[in-house]
Amino acid sequence: MTQAILTPEAGLEPTTGAQTGGQSKKVFVKTYGCQMNVYDSERMGDALARDGYETVDTVEAADLILINTCHIREKAAEKVYSQLGRLAKLKKQRNADGGDLMVAVAGCVAQAEGKEIIRRAPVVNVVIGPQTYHRLPEALARARQGESVVETEFPTEDKFDGLPNAPEKAIRGRGVAAFLTVQEGCDKFCTFCVVPYTRGAEVSRPVDRIISEAERLASAGVREVTLLGQNVNAWHGKGADDREWGLGELVRRLATIEGIDRIRYTTSHPRDMDDALIDAHRDLPELMPYLHLPVQSGSDRILKAMNRRHTAADYVKLVERIRAARPDIALSGDFIVGFPGETDQDFEDTMQLIREVNYAAAFSFKYSIRPGTPGADMDDQVDEAVKTERLLRLQDLISQQTRAFGRECVGKTVDLLLEKQGRNTDQLIGRSPWLQPVIVDAKLGEIGDIIRVRITQPGTTGLFAELAE
Ligand code: 5AD
Ligand code: SF4
Repeated sequence: MTQAILTPEAGLEPTTGAQTGGQSKKVFVKTYGCQMNVYDSERMGDALARDGYETVDTVEAADLILINTCHIREKAAEKVYSQLGRLAKLKKQRNADGGDLMVAVAGCVAQAEGKEIIRRAPVVNVVIGPQTYHRLPEALARARQGESVVETEFPTEDKFDGLPNAPEKAIRGRGVAAFLTVQEGCDKFCTFCVVPYTRGAEVSRPVDRIISEAERLASAGVREVTLLGQNVNAWHGKGADDREWGLGELVRRLATIEGIDRIRYTTSHPRDMDDALIDAHRDLPELMPYLHLPVQSGSDRILKAMNRRHTAADYVKLVERIRAARPDIALSGDFIVGFPGETDQDFEDTMQLIREVNYAAAFSFKYSIRPGTPGADMDDQVDEAVKTERLLRLQDLISQQTRAFGRECVGKTVDLLLEKQGRNTDQLIGRSPWLQPVIVDAKLGEIGDIIRVRITQPGTTGLFAELAE
């Protein structure tokens, strides 16, 4: 599965006494969870923009608040309810001032909880799942008539067909590196994971839709696309040559689009890394040398209980094949500690695998019981204190590896895509091919440029670089 979980940023702390302008249609969007939620929020924003909404960046300025939620771990889901509690207060204040406030909850919590959300948090007007969000404008219209709207079925129509193309202005606002969903859902049923239930069965978007969206992004100035899917490397579709394509062939085709200079994809399952995709890493300079390849555990016993359907040795062998094809590839992973039944020895096996693979980055989590998944009913749930201790040890090892990777980059000459302004106005931040943020002097170029730099020193959150000779 999935994705580097993005840390939620500032909360939804409302300050009371705020007013919205009477007739204005202003939406504040708050996104939790993975990159696919970021993409989905953008698409919902596009649909709302067509409906006359303007996006604002404070709760106070908004008359519609849209929360796109994550259900992957308990903490992420609970956060939604505490935020809704705060919004209820804001709404009361608005009503007292003669105004109004609409609240819509989208994403995986919406899918999993459905009308329970409105029962627990009556402030919510619309609950809309990840498969139905193209119906958001219509759902809001119904909500304005006083209805509490819950849209969580898995419809047969393709939601992407139901969504209008983003207005040109909206795409331009998205920057020079954009996400593009190519696949959604999961049929793997790892025993810890809610995704097959919230995002549904695996579906691939057709080739022509993906190409036309990538072309539109390129013509709006996007130079890097990250292809998204819960199981992105399980993507398949009929190619222009009438043959069945896998992700490797798709990437090859996208690399020919004028203006698309960099391609990434996330998240991959080890079992779906086929030869064509590994060959694409060998052959295509556009395909960035970075791969997020979660393994979750290094213990065969635990991998089996997780239903990952491969062994630790299979994974290590796969990594060797990928590195043989693209020696400078940087790997990142996801790890779960404290899955039911995990012993000290199982955990040591995970630590051993991490030492063997040597990651550039990784995301790690304590196992969190998800109701409705097989893991929730397993005996031998691991003690919270044990989980905490294991997580700290694992994260310490990973951060040593990440720092070592940063130090190894010093002295290397790399291409940097300049993405945004730094904290200081005289600095720009770009991304290295290995996804590290790199800070350079703003005089070296403009946002959207790809410049050749030499890494000079590691910093706390990224690297520093100067123009290469
Ligand atoms: N508990 C803890 N971590 C989980 N993940 C998925 N489900 C759970 C869970 N129940 C982690 C996996 C996945 C990442 C996105 O989140 O490591 O790869
Ligand atoms: Fe990924 Fe497994 Fe969850 Fe599917 S079930 S999304 S493969 S972790």
